[in-house]
Amino acid sequence: MELERIDDEGLGHLVEAFYARVRADEELGPIFNDAISDWPEHLGKLTDFWSSVMLTTGRYKGQPVPAHMKHRSKITPELFERWLGLWAETTDALMEPAAARALQDKARRIAQSLQLAMFFRIDA
Ligand code: HEM
Repeated sequence: MELERIDDEGLGHLVEAFYARVRADEELGPIFNDAISDWPEHLGKLTDFWSSVMLTTGRYKGQPVPAHMKHRSKITPELFERWLGLWAETTDALMEPAAARALQDKARRIAQSLQLAMFFRIDA
C-alpha cells in the first residue's frame, strides 16, 4: 500500500482510519460513541482541523477547548496517552515517515495545551 502525504486526501484517509480505531478502543470508544451522533460530520470537521493545523488552510473554525470541557468528567491524562498511542500507530501505518513524525509532534503539543486548559486552573 502506498503511504500517504500531508494533503487533503491523505489527511482525510488518516482521520477516517484513526477514528475507526478510536471507536473500536474499549476505553476511548464509548466516550466518542456517546458524544458523536453524526460521524461523517465529525470526520469532516477533523479533516478540516488537521488541514488547518498542517497546511494552514484556515478551514477549521471550531473551539476545541470547550468541546473537550463538556466531557471533562470522563477524560483523564491517561486517556490522552492512549489517544496519542493510537495516533502514533495510525500515522506510522499510513503516512510517510517524516509526515508521521510531524503529525505526532503536533498532536502531542495540542494534547498538552488541551490538558493544561482542562486540568489546571489558576484562580486569580
Ligand atoms: C472533538 C474526545 C483528544 C481534537 C472531540 C469530541 C470528543 C473528543 C468526545 C466531541 C465533542 C462534542 O462535540 O461533544 C477526545 C478525547 C481525547 C481527545 C477523549 C483524548 C483523551 C484530542 C486531541 C486533539 C483533539 C489530542 C487534537 C490533536 C478534537 C477536535 C474536535 C474534537 C478538533 C472538534 C471540536 C469542535 O467541535 O470544533 N474530542 N478528544 N482531540 N477533538 Fe478530541
